[in-house]
Amino acid sequence: MKNFVIGLGATSPRATAARAARTGAVLACALAFAFTTVPVIAGEEKVQIATAPGVDQVRANCIACHSLDYIQMNSPFLDRKGWEAVITKMEKAFGAPIRAEDKDAILNYLATAYGKK
Ligand code: HEC
Repeated sequence: MKNFVIGLGATSPRATAARAARTGAVLACALAFAFTTVPVIAGEEKVQIATAPGVDQVRANCIACHSLDYIQMNSPFLDRKGWEAVITKMEKAFGAPIRAEDKDAILNYLATAYGKK
C-alpha cells in the first residue's frame, strides 16, 4: 500500500506539472497577444524615421496599422520599384487609405531615405 501511494504520488505531480505547463502556454499566448496589440500603438513615438521631404506624408498615411519600423526593417531589400509595390500592396491587399496626393512624396521618401543601396 505504501508503494502504491508513493507510485501515485510520483505520477500525479508530473501530471500536475504538465497541466501547469499547458496553462502556462495558454497564458503566454494570451500575454503575447496583449503585448502585440497594445504597445505597437504606445511605442509609435519611439520609432524614429529619417527626417527628409515626405516624412510627414509617411507619418500621416503609414502608421494606422503597424509601426514605422516596418520601413526600417525592409530598407535593405527594397529599391524604388520594391517600395512602389509595397505602397500598392498596402492599398490593394490591406485597404490602406493612402491619399492620392501623398503617394509621390511617400515613394520618393522611401526610395531615397530607405532604398536598397
Ligand atoms: C490598412 C493598414 C495598413 C496601412 C495604412 C499600411 N500598412 Fe503596411 N502593412 C499592413 C499589413 C497588414 C502588413 C503585413 C503585416 C505583417 O506581415 O505583419 C503590412 C506590412 C508592411 C511592410 C512589410 C513588408 C510587406 O510587404 O509585408 C512594409 C514595409 C509596410 N507595410 C509599409 C507600409 C507603408 C510605407 C505604408 C504607408 C504608405 C503602410 N505600410 C501603410 C497594413 C497597412
